Amino acid sequence: MYERREITTQERIQQQAYCEKVKAHIAGRPHYALVDTYGCQQNESDSEILRGWLVQCGYELTADEDKADLIAVNTCAVREHAEKRVLGNVGALGHNKAKKPDLIVCVGGCMTQQPTVRERIRKSYRVVDLVFGPHEVWQFPELLLKTMERRGRRGSKSRLIAAEPSEGVVAEDLPRQRDSAVKAWLSIMNGCDNFCSYCIVPYVRGRERSRHPADIEAEARQLVEAGYKDITLLGQNVNSYGKGLDEGVDFPDLLARLDAIPGDYVLRFMTSHPKDATEKLFKVMADSEHCAHHIHLPLQSGSDRILKEMNRHYDRAKYLEKVALARRYMPDLVLTTDIIVGFPGETEADFEDTLSLVNEVRYDAMFTFIYSPRPGTPAAEMPDPVTRAEKQVWFDRLLDAANRISAEKHAAYVGGTVRVLVDGETGQTPYNLSARTKGGRLVHLAGDPALVGKFLDAKITDSTTWALYGQLV
Ligand code: SAH
Ligand code: SF4
Ligand code: F3S
Repeated sequence: MYERREITTQERIQQQAYCEKVKAHIAGRPHYALVDTYGCQQNESDSEILRGWLVQCGYELTADEDKADLIAVNTCAVREHAEKRVLGNVGALGHNKAKKPDLIVCVGGCMTQQPTVRERIRKSYRVVDLVFGPHEVWQFPELLLKTMERRGRRGSKSRLIAAEPSEGVVAEDLPRQRDSAVKAWLSIMNGCDNFCSYCIVPYVRGRERSRHPADIEAEARQLVEAGYKDITLLGQNVNSYGKGLDEGVDFPDLLARLDAIPGDYVLRFMTSHPKDATEKLFKVMADSEHCAHHIHLPLQSGSDRILKEMNRHYDRAKYLEKVALARRYMPDLVLTTDIIVGFPGETEADFEDTLSLVNEVRYDAMFTFIYSPRPGTPAAEMPDPVTRAEKQVWFDRLLDAANRISAEKHAAYVGGTVRVLVDGETGQTPYNLSARTKGGRLVHLAGDPALVGKFLDAKITDSTTWALYGQLV
């Protein structure tokens, strides 16, 4: 049985004390730290906490590997490709350590939740000093201090410190170095209970646990007051928010509560499992002042047979019904999705079902993946006779459809005027600013960098598959 473990104020203050001890260890000259992030927004959010702790420990942040005295790699396990890339990059840090023997290398994130990966790191990646999982981010200062103390001890053979794997942690009030002054992640829950048969996330992120609504609201208020304009609520399946809490709130309730915070800002969320996206949600979104009319509704497959094998708990008809309902409430809805091609046992006919659904729904953007077997998941045990080359052909056909549709949808914006939030600089000319429509479409603009963080009207003059181009009006 899963146990929820709320970190106490006492425990958090204890971590603060460890920060002071780390600070003492590195006193004397400036020390630099780099955090390298792979994977999804949950990991981006965790990396902001890691950076927050590192700053409290006295480090300055850097993007320069050669300058870094500490490198933390926040890993992702969702596909084999991601894992290989991470391990390759961790191995390459051996060169950095040869030049700088005092370099501290930390590996965190979802990969390290797998015992086999920990074992592999212990055996073959001697460059690594500290391994910890996503459930141990709250106690990073303690782990870092241990690492420093271990290396101070002469003659100790194994330098590796591995955090005791834990689960079910909910931690509030951790320090955070946010990446942007305009856009903010706001994690509302952690973990996943869905166990889609291909997916590793429930195994590495643990069971679903929601933060208390009052804590989320307090953080949202702080963000709005600090001038953040674009707040994205994060969870593996935000639609099951509130399960197990005493407060009796569901996700639409939470959304309505956050929407009531006064100010000029946009509220977004990711990700919605289609089985749990309800009419109540669409209604709250449509009636809200701040909610983006955007839903990321991962389809995964358009074939009923494959959806069943995937353990998704909806079929093609139900999915299409939800899309139609959402569009009835929000005719301007921007709809995006994730699709997996080449799930074990998928046939050409199954693939055609996916393609036809895509052509029917016409997504604004699609994230497409070739199925990657994840050891320990049920799908990894299923017979998978289709070759990689055949899957690649399907994948390319799907990508062509996705690109064609998204180019057509973007072209329809040209000539119109849309309200956008200018969210950053691109470093390019003449389109030196990037902006987002409320639905989340990317718009390139030319203008004064002082406009970053402002909501403005832009006339769309041009478009590509990936983005819109416009002029401020
Ligand atoms: N919780 C989110 C998604 C998390 S993973 C959700 O349910 O939507 C992001 C995407 O990666 C998934 O939507 C899926 O399309 C893809 N994915 C997950 N496991 C995969 C695997 N084993 N192979 C290929 N793609 C996978
Ligand atoms: Fe993975 Fe499914 Fe959970 Fe998404 S809902 S994280 S795809 S198990
Ligand atoms: Fe990857 Fe972990 Fe996110 S496996 S996709 S970083 S939850």
